[in-house]
Amino acid sequence: MKEDQPSVTAQRVAMRRAAHQLVDDPKVFDDPVACRIIGRESASALQADPRQFETTPLAPYLRAFVAARSRYAEDELSLGVRRGIGQYVILGAGLDTFAFRNPYPEGTVRVFEVDHPATQAWKRQRLEEVGITLPDDLTFAPVDFEMQTLEDGLRNAGYDPDKAAFFSWLVVTEYLTTEAVMATLRFIASAPARSGVVFDYMISPSLLSPSQQSRLDAFTRRVASAGEPWQAFFDPEVLVKDLRAMGFGYVEDKGPEKINAMYFKNRKDGLRVGSLSHLMKVQV
Ligand SMILES: C[S@@+](CC[C@H](N)C(=O)[O-])C[C@H]1O[C@@H](n2cnc3c(N)ncnc32)[C@H](O)[C@@H]1O
Repeated sequence: MKEDQPSVTAQRVAMRRAAHQLVDDPKVFDDPVACRIIGRESASALQADPRQFETTPLAPYLRAFVAARSRYAEDELSLGVRRGIGQYVILGAGLDTFAFRNPYPEGTVRVFEVDHPATQAWKRQRLEEVGITLPDDLTFAPVDFEMQTLEDGLRNAGYDPDKAAFFSWLVVTEYLTTEAVMATLRFIASAPARSGVVFDYMISPSLLSPSQQSRLDAFTRRVASAGEPWQAFFDPEVLVKDLRAMGFGYVEDKGPEKINAMYFKNRKDGLRVGSLSHLMKVQV
C-alpha cells in the first residue's frame, strides 16, 4: 500500500461486491449494504449502469471470486457460531459490511475489524458520509501487518485470547510479504481449540500454464499501478504442509473446481471463478 494512504483496491473489491448484487441472478452472496458502502457517487453510477466498471473480459471471474469468498467465510462463520464461537475477526476488512448486517442476536458475535490504519480511517469516514451507524458489537483494531503483530492490535481492542475466534482474511494475503502472512497464521494457530480462519491466496506463477500466467501478468500490472503490488504467492501443497506444521488440526484447500461445484452449479449465465486463486479453511 502507498504510505499513509487508504487501500485503493479495497474500493475496487467493494465495487465488485456491489455489482454482484445488481448483475448476477441468482446471487451467490447477498449483501444488502454492499451498494451503500461504496459511496453515494459510485452507487448512483453503478445503479445507472451496473456493468460500466467491468472493463476487461476477466471481470466476471473476479466478481465471482469476490462473491464466493465472502459467502464461504460467512457460511463458515455461521457453523462456528453454532458451535459457540462469539468472536469474529475480519482481517484486512476494507469495506466489508458484515458488522453492519450482523444477523446474530446482539452480544452473540463480537466483530473486530482489523485493517491498515489509513484504510480504517477512510472507512470510518465513509460510514459517516453514507449514514451507517456503528453497532455496539463492532470494534476497530488498526494494524499494519508489516509493522505490528496481530496479537498486539487485538489485545488493545479487547479481544479475548482465551476464547475461540473465527477469522476471515479475504483478498489480503497477496498484498503482504510471505513473512507477514505466516506470522499472522501462526498467531491464529495459537488460538484456543475450534478457532479457525478462511482466507484466499494466489497460486505461485511457476505452477501456472502460459495462458494463466499471462492473465496473472495482466492483473499484476493493474494492482501494481495502483501502488499495491502482489507479493505473496503459494504452492497449495507446500502451504497445506506448512499449516499442518503450525499446529492446525484441520486444513482444507479449495481450488476452482470445488468452489464452482459449491456455488456456481447449473447457472444459466455461466458465472464461475477462474484458476489463479484458492480458498483455504483451517481450524485449530
Ligand atoms: C483488496 S482489499 C480487500 C478488502 C476486504 N477484505 C474485501 O474483501 O473487500 C485489501 C485490504 O488489505 C489491507 N491491507 C493491505 N496491506 C496491509 C497491511 N500491511 N496491513 C494491514 N492491512 C493491509 C488493505 O487496507 C485493504 O483493506
